[in-house]
Amino acid sequence: MTIESRRRFLPMLDHVKGKRSAVTCALKCDNACAKDVCNTSNNSYMRDIISAEYSRRSMLGVGAVGALTLLLGGNAVAQAPSAQGLSPAAKAGGRLQFSPIAPVESTVDAFTVPKTYSWEPVIRWGDPLFNDTPDFDINNQTPEAQAGQFGYNNDYLDILPLDKKNTRAVLVANHEYTNEGIMFPPTMDPATVRAISKNAHGMGVVELERKAEGFPWKYVRGAKLNRRITMSTPFTLTGPAAGTDLVKTVADSEGRTVLGTLNNCAGGTTPWGTILSGEENFNGYFKVGTPTAEQRRYGLTSTDPGRGWHLDEERFDATAEGYENEPNRFGWIVELDPMDPNSTPVKHTALGRFKHEGANVRVNADGHVVAYMGDDERFDYLYKFVSRDKYIEGNREHNKTLLANGDLFVARFQGDSEGEIDGSGAVPSDGSFDGSGEWIPLTRDGRSAVPGMTIEQVLVYTRLAADRVGPTKLDRPEDVEPNPVTGKVYVACTNNSNRGKGSNAKADETNPRNENRDGHIIEITETNNDATASTFNWNLLMLCGDPAQGDVTYFSGFPVDQVSPISCPDNLAFDSAGNLWISTDGASSGIGYSDGLFKVSLEGADRGKVEQFLAVPGDAETCGPVIHDKEGMVFVAVQHPGEDGTWGAHTSLFPYDGTPAPRPSVVQVFRGKNGKGLRK
Ligand code: FEO
Ligand code: CA
Ligand code: CA
Repeated sequence: MTIESRRRFLPMLDHVKGKRSAVTCALKCDNACAKDVCNTSNNSYMRDIISAEYSRRSMLGVGAVGALTLLLGGNAVAQAPSAQGLSPAAKAGGRLQFSPIAPVESTVDAFTVPKTYSWEPVIRWGDPLFNDTPDFDINNQTPEAQAGQFGYNNDYLDILPLDKKNTRAVLVANHEYTNEGIMFPPTMDPATVRAISKNAHGMGVVELERKAEGFPWKYVRGAKLNRRITMSTPFTLTGPAAGTDLVKTVADSEGRTVLGTLNNCAGGTTPWGTILSGEENFNGYFKVGTPTAEQRRYGLTSTDPGRGWHLDEERFDATAEGYENEPNRFGWIVELDPMDPNSTPVKHTALGRFKHEGANVRVNADGHVVAYMGDDERFDYLYKFVSRDKYIEGNREHNKTLLANGDLFVARFQGDSEGEIDGSGAVPSDGSFDGSGEWIPLTRDGRSAVPGMTIEQVLVYTRLAADRVGPTKLDRPEDVEPNPVTGKVYVACTNNSNRGKGSNAKADETNPRNENRDGHIIEITETNNDATASTFNWNLLMLCGDPAQGDVTYFSGFPVDQVSPISCPDNLAFDSAGNLWISTDGASSGIGYSDGLFKVSLEGADRGKVEQFLAVPGDAETCGPVIHDKEGMVFVAVQHPGEDGTWGAHTSLFPYDGTPAPRPSVVQVFRGKNGKGLRK
């Protein structure tokens, strides 16, 4: 690809500011941070108006929850077995002990693990999934080959056991976006590049096998469950917005079937063993001409999308007659059953439409399931969904319908030291950033709870519905995950360079640093530990940064000179003892170190202690952590290695397998002696 054609893909290359590399900003998020803030709503004003009404509704909710809690005997929390086969009550078996690695300078092109561990890829971009799929040939890729090969830029990841011996498993990953400038030789014609890129998006399902527990996995070409989800895969819309005019197009007059899924970022694995996947920055793929107010709120602009898919398929051109609603068919939570390769994946409209990072489900004591979700944009919101129907242990078909109907809520936080918050990150005099909060209903019993909006408007234009009810603007809420041991909910707020700038919202106790470069983690405790509660308490677990460089940080009181420096928390996971694991995205532009994976203790004297487990190559992001601590194994998705390179001048050749370009890969880390895996 020539410099000129590369710039066509990256129209903002010279103008990007913010956390990530310019290339990642352009390709992954359509330069969200270089553009005006999407959320221009004035919530402070709205709060005053609606406060009385929602206080009343919340009280009703609290009453019902209170009665239920009494009935069930206090703090009982029903927990379905974890999809990873780990007992939530179990303690970590001590097989994942490690000495933290030192932070790695972002100029270092290496995958770094503790000395007593080794690593190797499980599967890489281009690895063939089927027997009739061609082997990867980076110089002669075709759209057909890519449709049968593992996709690009793996993000969400899980590995689910298939047998009792734990020697067979199925891996599921998201393929969020593509970087054409480092994927293809510049001589490849643009239409072929576009067609391959389209097939490199989506999701991948692949079976794994190994000789015994604790040993590294190999993927199985041609296995029964192997599957690629691409832009050609049909999805069924579920929930109240399915079949409504807002999601109909000339190609789908019923408004019930969508082809493909876009920009799938993080996700979650349900207690019934399906995979949830978040459609995130879908706005960057559609031509809309002059955007409507609704489209602007979702970041759609008058600039034609750089990938140019609209040149090949009319559905990506929302100015084409009959396709005006096509962008409304993306921005959902997707549910995929990896155990049935013939199943039709679904998009759940009841969970609302926004830039979904992911969704993580907890089964409440009363059987309702609750999905927690972040909208990853500066100054956007935290949501939860409460199912109408109840979980039935062992009834998978029933449980797969639970996310189709229920109530959607958005969070409002109130600090108890707001008057002391000055944007510096200084800890308030009561010793913590903390307070209370409420879940404000957007839908109730299948009807809109937002005056002036119909149920389908609330679900398709969820951001605008939320703007009307006064939720708290957060600093890019990404992964939101309930701890399977305690039920507490953790929210990764990645960063927000615009907090407190100009007319944007100033720091508050929940987002206490202006120009928040390094992000923070919110810890939420639902009232009575009831996931369906209408109120909660919260506190900040940490303000990230590097204390050694003088950053203002906070680690729940843990000595700041004893933590690994950490910046830009993104994806969250837990081990079987309930320790939090955090992967990061963007640390290099803040603290100058490569992104990595960090273990965080949550209880006792070590609460707030951060220990770095691994680091990815400098241009890469660490995604999809999966922690199998009982067998001493960790898995991560290494996304966009070598992002800042160009064809022939790559900044990384990760995973160093001889391919003349980097390959995003799922990597396994296991107990071993060489400490360097393939790169000895
Ligand atoms: Fe795809 Fe919010 O990161
Ligand atoms: Ca406080
Ligand atoms: Ca993410």
